[in-house]
Amino acid sequence: LAVGPLVGRHVLVTSGPTHEPIDPVRYIANRSSGAQGTAIAVALRDLGATVTFVTGPAAVPAPNGVAVVRVETAAQMLAAVEAALPADAAVMAAAVADWRVANASGQKMKKHGSGQVPSLEFAENPDILSSVSKGLMRPKLVVGFAAETERVAEYAAAKRLRKGCDWIVANDVSPQTGIMGGTENAVTLITEAGAEVWPRMGKDAVARALAARIAASLA
Ligand code: C5P
Repeated sequence: LAVGPLVGRHVLVTSGPTHEPIDPVRYIANRSSGAQGTAIAVALRDLGATVTFVTGPAAVPAPNGVAVVRVETAAQMLAAVEAALPADAAVMAAAVADWRVANASGQKMKKHGSGQVPSLEFAENPDILSSVSKGLMRPKLVVGFAAETERVAEYAAAKRLRKGCDWIVANDVSPQTGIMGGTENAVTLITEAGAEVWPRMGKDAVARALAARIAASLA
């Protein structure tokens, strides 16, 4: 028996890093563990939502009780997100690579000796959050993330406007905070009404608080 304020609501969550291939065996990645996105999917599920969880190759396992769509690249993540719409809300917690390798090789690149090294060229990846926020199938509530190391609220407020999302969950990922890869998070929630500084708490508690806010907003 499904109970909770989000019963009958479909929420899309993106999570984890993306991998951008260099050749069939090598890739460019980032250090996102997928911990915060996974906790958010769990919290939304526990409030009764139908969750589609689009995840890159994350370090933490995907949760039970959600529809998991596994992708590798940003381009695949965009396609999976578009295929998952419509949704009542979207929470875009993935650390999407900004660039992919434009001259990726279809075959494993060979080491030639004589000190020759390959050159990588980059192309810009699609911005999934912007594209969902500005798209025809826009969910009623779109939540983005912002990892900053300085002027967190100011940069995140600018990002909210630029990307066209409703809320930004901003966090300070300066090395001394221990947040990247850690179990705690200290976030500032940026909405149209302004910035709310939340106390430092576990990523699970951040997820539950955010899920409750999403439920209240959709009610
Ligand atoms: O621009 P920046 O990467 O700092 O913005 C972070 C937010 O944008 C996150 O919500 C992230 O999931 C989203 N994003 C995206 N597609 C990209 C880059 C970022 O959806 N290509």
